[in-house]
Amino acid sequence: MNRPAILELRGVDVAHGRTPVLHGVSLTVGRGEIVTLIGANGAGKSTLLMAIFGLPSVSRGEVWFDGQPITRLPTHRVARLGLAQVPEGRRIFPGMTVLENLVMGSMVGEKDEAALARIHALFPLLRERGGQRAGTLSGGEQQMLAIGRALMSRPRLLLLDEPSLGLAPLMIRRIFQALREIVAEGTTLFLVEQNANQALRLADRGYVLANGRIVLEGSGLALLADPEVRRAYLGGH
Ligand SMILES: Nc1ncnc2c1ncn2[C@@H]1O[C@H](COP(=O)(O)OP(=O)(O)OP(=O)(O)O)[C@@H](O)[C@H]1O
Ligand SMILES: [Mg+2]
Repeated sequence: MNRPAILELRGVDVAHGRTPVLHGVSLTVGRGEIVTLIGANGAGKSTLLMAIFGLPSVSRGEVWFDGQPITRLPTHRVARLGLAQVPEGRRIFPGMTVLENLVMGSMVGEKDEAALARIHALFPLLRERGGQRAGTLSGGEQQMLAIGRALMSRPRLLLLDEPSLGLAPLMIRRIFQALREIVAEGTTLFLVEQNANQALRLADRGYVLANGRIVLEGSGLALLADPEVRRAYLGGH
């Protein structure tokens, strides 16, 4: 990887209470890259994303963002540096409108018209449905909203936790196409996926997490062709 790192984890351990979950995790995301982390249920993928934001906290090792350590920064300080997260399960506010959800995502807490225009261009449906209660959107539409909301803070690095979860193939293609556009506009992506096939096709590089440890890394294409990855994460096809 020749690009300067925007995110770096160095030997990171994380526990939930007394239960150790991540063990010596090191990985790098270069500026402008799409990097994916794949792994089975319970491997620690969501824990890793959340630990970047400081909750749960990193018990050993370091997290660096854009040349500065953020290991012990509180979540709101991390967010202010230019990271945003699309959490597992989307976590939109179902009783609020689509537009209100988007505005909630902006840093300043007031409407950032330019950011909103960019998100409406990316997902025209979010403009059309602006006045609709978010809880009435389909799963795929809610995923678009969750991504749009995260983009409202104009992040330089966007972390996504299983954006394809529970979505039909056509909707997954639309979401992943939008992710390509987001990267083309200058945002770096780090996404966690159980859908290894799609994620590795999208990504420049990938890491495989098993039982809280990085066990493989390589280009998306190399991992797709790897016999171990095929056996364990691609159903052996
Ligand atoms: N809040 C929590 N308190 C205690 N243990 C937790 C908590 N959250 C997760 N764990 C445990 O940490 C381990 C890793 O969970 P995590 O959610 O990070 O995995 P994951 O790779 O995201 O899985 P999935 O693919 O199912 O989303 C699991 O054993 C899980 O039971
Ligand atoms: Mg998870």
